[in-house]
Amino acid sequence: MTRDERRLDLAESLRLWDEAVELIPGGSQTNSKRPGNYAFGQYPVYAARAKGARIWDVDGNEYLDYVNGLGPISLGYDYPAVTAAIRDQLDRGTISGLLWPAEVAAARALTQVIPCAEQVRFFKGGGEATAAAARIARGATGRHVILNCGYRGWPDTWSAGHDDAVPPALSDYVVSFPFGDAEVVESLLAQHRGKVAAVFLGLPYEAEADAGYLADVRDAAHAHGALLVYDEIVTGFRLATAGAQEYHGVVPDLAVFAKGMANGMPLAAVVGRREVMSAAERLLISLTFGGEALSLAACTAVVREFRERDVIGHLWRTGRQLMDGLNDAADEVGVPFRSSGYASLAAMRLDVPRERQDEAWFMLLAECARRGVLLRRGGLNNVTFAHTADDIAETIAVCREAFKVLHTAGFRGAATAADGRQGVGSQQVGIGSASGG
Ligand SMILES: Cc1ncc(COP(=O)(O)O)c(C=O)c1O
Repeated sequence: MTRDERRLDLAESLRLWDEAVELIPGGSQTNSKRPGNYAFGQYPVYAARAKGARIWDVDGNEYLDYVNGLGPISLGYDYPAVTAAIRDQLDRGTISGLLWPAEVAAARALTQVIPCAEQVRFFKGGGEATAAAARIARGATGRHVILNCGYRGWPDTWSAGHDDAVPPALSDYVVSFPFGDAEVVESLLAQHRGKVAAVFLGLPYEAEADAGYLADVRDAAHAHGALLVYDEIVTGFRLATAGAQEYHGVVPDLAVFAKGMANGMPLAAVVGRREVMSAAERLLISLTFGGEALSLAACTAVVREFRERDVIGHLWRTGRQLMDGLNDAADEVGVPFRSSGYASLAAMRLDVPRERQDEAWFMLLAECARRGVLLRRGGLNNVTFAHTADDIAETIAVCREAFKVLHTAGFRGAATAADGRQGVGSQQVGIGSASGG
């Protein structure tokens, strides 16, 4: 049986999921990994193992993976130099009452590659780190209001107004704004004059940002005595090693990194200028697992690989091959699909009516999974250093077949112009995100 004809046997995945929903509220720890977000019943749920660009599910099916943990896998699964660094640290210890040198080494490594990083604090998750960055910004400026663009994670800091379990009063302290118009930021700074601690920015993924906008936001923030903070959780170790600040050349005062920095180990960091970061000395920002040494050893190894090899060049080249190949295939077949944005983490959209979005995405993800490729609704397509040109060619061929199925089902025509963004996640103001959450 060719891959084209295979109908996935997912019996063990589905059995485990039945057990999970009994034991775990929502069935999983990450909302975006709930199988209902993919093509439930026709897309794997549980992994058995992963290596390089490939993952095997618990039923023995093999796939080329573009989800990659929602972004953390930057070099590829079980990347030898990172695995060796983890093993070496594991042989010596993971956490203790004494500090491990791995903490200093990882902090040093980050300060060597991230322009705004003079000091570093480590965390376990991205949302936890963005909440810490908010506290540091507030502590450093003595102000409480934050202007925020994009998804920052689940902590109360960011969830007022999105979640009825969070005291609504907190929403007075975080004001959301859409990406793209510096005058909006300027007017919010004026409206909250003297009260804004920081402007938090995450980039949208559907189109490349304009560096001029970033510079205007930085200048407006600084003119009002506020800090500029980048959420580089997705962009770090993807657009460039140091993320948006390196790629676009506009450097913030503080930045938060997570996903790609430790190739899948649970690590996040707030980095920034010494005079701002030093506020963390006196603030209550403390976690037992903050110095967990396996993740820190992984991070140092990741930074070394990014410095010594052309990882970023590879992510862009393979990402570009994938983006162009998917768009060409969609045009040839005649389906309204578009991949866009930064090629190393490309977004995808289907320009079909809102009421048919679920059906179209289900079909695309299921048809690709059955042929051995795992994609995620909206992207982002997280290529890794392990994806080869042949892998990408295979993926494009698979997607072409999936597009044909969509075409037969009546999803026909061309994608709309660049800003017709029906199918993409709610990066701008919503609580969800195209990258995770
Ligand atoms: C831009 C951005 N910020 C923050 C977060 C939250 O990170 P975490 O899920 O590690 O808490 C995410 C998660 O996807 C994200 O994409």
